[in-house]
Amino acid sequence: MAVRPLGAVPLEPPRRLLTVTVDGAETRVPEGATILDACRANAVDTPTLCYADNLTPVNACRVCVVEVEGSRTLVPACSRTAEDGMVVSTDTDRVRHSRTLVMEFLASSVEMDLTNADVHRWMAEYEVHPERFGAQMPELPADERDRRDPGHHHEPLDPTVAEGVAQPVKIDNELYVRDYSRCILCYKCVEACGVDAQNTFAIAVAGRGFDARISTEYAVPLDESACVYCGNCIGVCPTGALMFRSEHEMREDGSWDEQQQTVTNTICPYCGVGCELELHVQDNEIVKVTSPWDHSVTNGHLCIKGRFGFAYVQSRREDDPTRRRAGARDRRGSSESASD
Ligand code: SF4
Ligand code: SF4
Ligand code: FES
Repeated sequence: MAVRPLGAVPLEPPRRLLTVTVDGAETRVPEGATILDACRANAVDTPTLCYADNLTPVNACRVCVVEVEGSRTLVPACSRTAEDGMVVSTDTDRVRHSRTLVMEFLASSVEMDLTNADVHRWMAEYEVHPERFGAQMPELPADERDRRDPGHHHEPLDPTVAEGVAQPVKIDNELYVRDYSRCILCYKCVEACGVDAQNTFAIAVAGRGFDARISTEYAVPLDESACVYCGNCIGVCPTGALMFRSEHEMREDGSWDEQQQTVTNTICPYCGVGCELELHVQDNEIVKVTSPWDHSVTNGHLCIKGRFGFAYVQSRREDDPTRRRAGARDRRGSSESASD
């Protein structure tokens, strides 16, 4: 085995450059790059929902599809590796039609209002009209979807309205909530809980077809599951289905205001690993904690102490997070909690 001199940094072997044509313009990308990389290198805006730069592509949503010369079917740009001489078209009728349909189907059954600005822009650009599938189904009783038979499809509950996933928010712990009315089944949380980050495997997809949903084992509450509350699933969720309890409660009482928030980057003080934290602060209170996806230590992922330890930092009363949040609401002037 070759001995590397002390201090030498191992370098990856140089990668061959490939020529890819995207919408008529030639671009060069290194071997191993995806079609999405080639699109980005060419400044071609490509919608993505299930893709994240810090997770393995799973091809769940298909909103990123493109046409590739010689390929009969549309190709997901986020996962298909580029090949030398590949000719890609991103703005054909077929591509636009397919992207529009994906977003319309999702938005007809799922609450998309808390997705990021890019998703809202794509929905406008692709003229997404989910309302053409009919009125949304009323909210289902709590846990009704969790009780559906695995491996079977349910009969439509009401064929006159668009099938939906609206249901009450699951609040079963102090740290975060699960609002599956907003879940587009992108699998990102499952990946972050599994081999891509946490290796805890507390959540997975249960059921099939329209009954497919994210679930703990046997749909038990989080505190009875294998969950270790790292919050890495929240960090990757693109729709707000998984949310800090602090954010959820502030949205409920109308005090959540991102315009008023500042973000301060710091290093987590709990251990020597050196994770970078982004502290989101409103009214002098930390309201949530994230980490940059491209940070070399975290890749955007944290442990429970970095993600949720802020409750300890700003503890002003006894060790009671409910009272603390209520206190924060009082300070923001919520009359509802003034009696706390
Ligand atoms: S908080 Fe962590 S362990 Fe729990 S479900 Fe989310 S990713 Fe898995
Ligand atoms: S809960 Fe969020 S991250 Fe998980 S599948 Fe649903 S939308 Fe994706
Ligand atoms: S973003 Fe490519 S398949 Fe979802």
